[in-house]
Amino acid sequence: MNAGESQLGIKESFSDTARVLSRMMSLIVWRTFAHSGLEEMAASATIPVINSLSDDFHPCQILADLQTIRENKGDLRGLTAAYVGDAANNMGHSYLLGFATAGMHIRVAGPEGYHPRADIIADAERIAAETGGSASVMVDPATAVTGADVVITDSWVSMGMEDEKAERIAAFGAYRVTSELMAQAKPEAIFLHCLPAYREYEVAAEVIDGPQSVVWDEAENRVHAQKALMTWLLTRPQDGE
Ligand code: NVA
Repeated sequence: MNAGESQLGIKESFSDTARVLSRMMSLIVWRTFAHSGLEEMAASATIPVINSLSDDFHPCQILADLQTIRENKGDLRGLTAAYVGDAANNMGHSYLLGFATAGMHIRVAGPEGYHPRADIIADAERIAAETGGSASVMVDPATAVTGADVVITDSWVSMGMEDEKAERIAAFGAYRVTSELMAQAKPEAIFLHCLPAYREYEVAAEVIDGPQSVVWDEAENRVHAQKALMTWLLTRPQDGE
């Protein structure tokens, strides 16, 4: 379903749609813009609601990324990952929270004005203190990448930000993942990108198409990780069972 083919948020509130779908479906998987809509949907639904991307978070991508890193690096705990670029977008937020949850050291680098929300940084730091990982936010991409096991970037222009394209390309120019930047990471470091990728903006073609790139494994793992998530949600013991 998409907004143009339904009453979602137009003639019918998210809350009422959640109640109707809960009588018909087993799960709701929703890709939207404002995160508040997902919260409204989840509050009224009696079935699981999966965030398949909002302006603030993209947790399903994180599951696929963690799977990809584990396939390549083994135990996630103690690994260092650097995410460079738009640190204020859904991926920047979700890398902080998800990788801290996995006990990893996550460094996020972006220009001033494009840093993660303060409450999300605080949540990631609190989670990292429990898991033995760490979460840090910085401006310098080379500092973030130095010695990293995993290097990651994302589009500089996320969905819904198309009007800001020119100013964003200007702001993020120093954050392109090039071979020179990759050389600061460990020699066996891997490169991830959630796609769609814009070669020569956020990543040089020689990196995303080079030997350290695992982006096609990462793309495939979106299927496996999301199947695992749905299986878990549909089979886990419910309260009282
Ligand atoms: N930050 C990107 C992720 C795309 C999977 C966006 O929201 O467009």
